Amino acid sequence: MTDDILRQYLSFYRDLGVKNLYRAAAPAVQEEIAESPQVGPPAQNSVVSPPKPVRSPLPELHPSDDTLVQIGQDIGDCKRCRLGEGRKKIVFGSGNEQARLVFVGEGPGADEDEQGLPFVGRAGQLLTQMIEGTAHKEGIPLSRADVYICNVVKCRPPENRTPLPDEMEICGQFLYRQLMAIRPKAICALGSTAVKALLGTKEGVTRLRGHWQKWRDIPVMVTYHPSYLLRPYNQNAKKEAWEDLKKVLHYVYD
Ligand code: URA
Repeated sequence: MTDDILRQYLSFYRDLGVKNLYRAAAPAVQEEIAESPQVGPPAQNSVVSPPKPVRSPLPELHPSDDTLVQIGQDIGDCKRCRLGEGRKKIVFGSGNEQARLVFVGEGPGADEDEQGLPFVGRAGQLLTQMIEGTAHKEGIPLSRADVYICNVVKCRPPENRTPLPDEMEICGQFLYRQLMAIRPKAICALGSTAVKALLGTKEGVTRLRGHWQKWRDIPVMVTYHPSYLLRPYNQNAKKEAWEDLKKVLHYVYD
């Protein structure tokens, strides 16, 4: 790998918000990519050799002709992090590949893990209702199939726990590519994990919601995660989420 390519990779990962890179243990036999730097867990006894100009083990930098199909193929039967061990199905994302609006959630739950589709459980039903109900009330002809829905991590975290920073970093490259391939007019970040992944801030949803933020040059509206809205004591938040959604829908579809 040349200095120039390495520099491009580093700025690619910096844009993703990745702060730590790890060197993976070299496979026992790997002629073609032997001694090239890799992203992965630190090797116990590896010797760092000077990089050679060989085939890169890293994913392409969102090539201009990137497609969701290609990204799905690159994910493959992913075992890049521990979440790959416990999942049933990878939940890549679903909806219109040319959507003008993309919703980003946290990660699959049990129902999503079973079906391989995002937001199909209780929170998903609420999200669908919110999208379609708000659009209908506002006179915007829109169904769930018109938008694109995906998550920060593509595999279900055990016990539905919050994804860990390294899981978000590793899976983040695919979210990055999905967003670059779709290039929507706006993104709606659902809850604090999506906020962290997209905006790189720990600022709470309550403070950020309702105001436009940016991911690269794409406007981002932050709102509450539908699971949060399902809790009976958060009914006020429901009204706020509806307001946020109204704003996004008018911005994108007027
Ligand atoms: N919660 C999420 O964040 N994503 C899903 O796909 C389902 C529930």
